[in-house]
Amino acid sequence: MSAKQEIILSGIRPTGRLHYGNYFGAIKSFIELQGKGHQCYYFIADYHALTTISERVDFFQQTIDMLRTYVACGLDPAQSVIYRQSDLPCTAELSLLLGMITNIGHLERGTTYKDKLSKLEQGAQGLEGNPLSFGLLGYPVLMAADILIVRANQVPVGDDQRQHVEMAMDIAQKFNHRFGETLTIPRAVQRNALRLPGLDGSAKMGKSDNNTLDLLDDPKTVLKKIKGVQTTTDPEPLDTESNDPDAVIPRMPNSVGALYRMLSLLAPEEVYLEFVGKYRRGEKFYGTLKTTLAEYVSKFNEPIIERFNAPENTPESVKDFLRENARKVTPVALETVEACREAMGIGRSLYRA
Ligand code: TYM
Repeated sequence: MSAKQEIILSGIRPTGRLHYGNYFGAIKSFIELQGKGHQCYYFIADYHALTTISERVDFFQQTIDMLRTYVACGLDPAQSVIYRQSDLPCTAELSLLLGMITNIGHLERGTTYKDKLSKLEQGAQGLEGNPLSFGLLGYPVLMAADILIVRANQVPVGDDQRQHVEMAMDIAQKFNHRFGETLTIPRAVQRNALRLPGLDGSAKMGKSDNNTLDLLDDPKTVLKKIKGVQTTTDPEPLDTESNDPDAVIPRMPNSVGALYRMLSLLAPEEVYLEFVGKYRRGEKFYGTLKTTLAEYVSKFNEPIIERFNAPENTPESVKDFLRENARKVTPVALETVEACREAMGIGRSLYRA
């Protein structure tokens, strides 16, 4: 291993189709980090997907589709180890060990848990039969296990997951402090991670909020979704000279900001600037903004949809692929679990020896 090689790890839950938040918050960095001599592990977080279910869901099929989308987006199976979380069951063992040193109070401050709690308190629809679970409270511990088990240094995630990565750092530090230097502390957490707003104007595009633009949406769907974005409010003065999206977008109504954010990510700079100019001048422009953006989105989706549908992607070939990758990551992961068992005093597993 060369001195500069980093261990990169990240995951996404197989809870439906991948959306633009997933892409620009996470997958884009996954792709950029490939081919630079780092060891990259990207996985499909199917255990985490179970934290919010109330009935059986075919997560296996969704995992297959997600894997196909990963590869269609540009993740290269020759450069990254892409696996399914539940094919590495020793992650659950590490999560159990780490849970022994994690304060409940700490977990109650976790964003995923708090979001669900507040939805329940507000009487949100669709959560019947799906109360707060032990698994949901332990979400960040399982996530810490994912990260620490391969000794990841860097964890590329969107802004909404940053707190969870910071919790993993705290858990690792606590473990090492109590039981001696055993775990690698992940050090780099992106400070400028993105949080893409939803098409409904909410702060975050999210699978469970029905406000997403998806990477596999066809042109008709794209246009329909974008046309449906609320743009009834007139532009207000921007109160900044800067055209930087980070300065301009927070000064816009949320749903309009979502359109501009996507335009800034997908269109050439001059197109984005042209529309910022129109906004400043208060021209009538929302109709053209929407059709222009829809064209860029569909152009972006086209090759992804084509690769997703490639005939060689049979369920059997995907299964073989996942099996092979689980074999690659297992020895690294088991070594960490064994080291933790030893450090805590129960000793190494006798059956795995
Ligand atoms: P998940 O499936 O919710 O999201 C996967 C990735 O997409 C990013 N993301 C966003 N980024 C910007 N704007 C948005 N609107 C947006 N929506 C989603 C997320 O930040 C994330 O990077 N807990 C993780 C999965 C996980 C994991 C891990 C990640 C499990 N174990 C270990 C890293 C390391 C999750 O729920 O992702």
